[in-house]
Amino acid sequence: MDARPHAEYFQVYVWELPLRFFHWINAGCVFVLGVTGLLIGSPLPWEGAAAEASSRYLFGSVRFIHFAFGYIFLVNFLARIYWGFAGNDFARWKSFIPNTRIKRREILQVLCLDIFLICKLPVLSIGTNALAGIIYLGMYLVILFQILTGFALYSIMSPAWFPRLFAGLIPLFGGLSSLRQWHHLFTWVFVAFTTMHIYLSWYHDYLEGRGTISSMIGGWKFIEKSSFPHVR
Ligand code: HEM
Ligand code: HEM
Repeated sequence: MDARPHAEYFQVYVWELPLRFFHWINAGCVFVLGVTGLLIGSPLPWEGAAAEASSRYLFGSVRFIHFAFGYIFLVNFLARIYWGFAGNDFARWKSFIPNTRIKRREILQVLCLDIFLICKLPVLSIGTNALAGIIYLGMYLVILFQILTGFALYSIMSPAWFPRLFAGLIPLFGGLSSLRQWHHLFTWVFVAFTTMHIYLSWYHDYLEGRGTISSMIGGWKFIEKSSFPHVR
């Protein structure tokens, strides 16, 4: 039987329900928008196969799903911005900023742990560690960028008033074609982030034994009693 001696733990409620909802709705949207977006960029030749394109409307449905999830993505993002001011300490915007010396040292510790596997545990932060915090903040900016460019593209194909608000961004990006290319390019930032994020969540879960992955489902993490007075 494999067994490792373990410390005594406190259970800490880290991720509140609204944040967990935000996280999984966001992850679902990124998946659907990524798949439908890449299909829009490189359409598969389904339409011509059996019937007239106009009677099947398959590509129209793919685009409809992309636009509908674009709105869900936006509302969910706005809710997260609000929760960054109203939520607990772990959800607040300031938790992403390495504003103390201890946090800046933690960035090096996590880099050393993730890349070279030689630094000491435990990582002091209970919520996101200092390095992950900066990366998440960057991802929120990427999400904002994708929303702005997406709605600017949508402004030329929708009669609704809301997307039209973004039409002014088209000349700023040097026209529609380069705007589409930026929107496409940033899709790969999501692919790269999600791949690393899933790996690192699993890796820290395994290494720290604090229940990192299940914490984004149930909300609770396990923190060693010995390091509790020092953790943030
Ligand atoms: C994670 C977020 C998103 C991803 C990964 C994504 C991805 C993509 C990709 C890869 C394309 C194809 C670009 C090309 O090669 O031509 C595309 C097109 C498009 N996306 Fe997004 N998108 C996202 C969010 C949004 C949002 C929030 C909107 C707002 C409604 C939006 C609206 C559009 C529009 C209007 C097009 C062009 C459709 C067409 O020309 O038929 N996207 N998207
Ligand atoms: C199956 C896919 C995913 C899994 C298993 C997963 C897992 C997790 C876990 C375990 C955490 C907590 C990390 C910690 O305790 O330090 C977390 C946080 C986070 N994840 Fe994911 N994630 C997934 C997909 C995504 C996607 C697609 C995005 C966005 C593109 C994303 C963005 C975030 C952000 C921004 C946080 C920080 C939470 C906050 O305070 O806002 N995740 N994720």
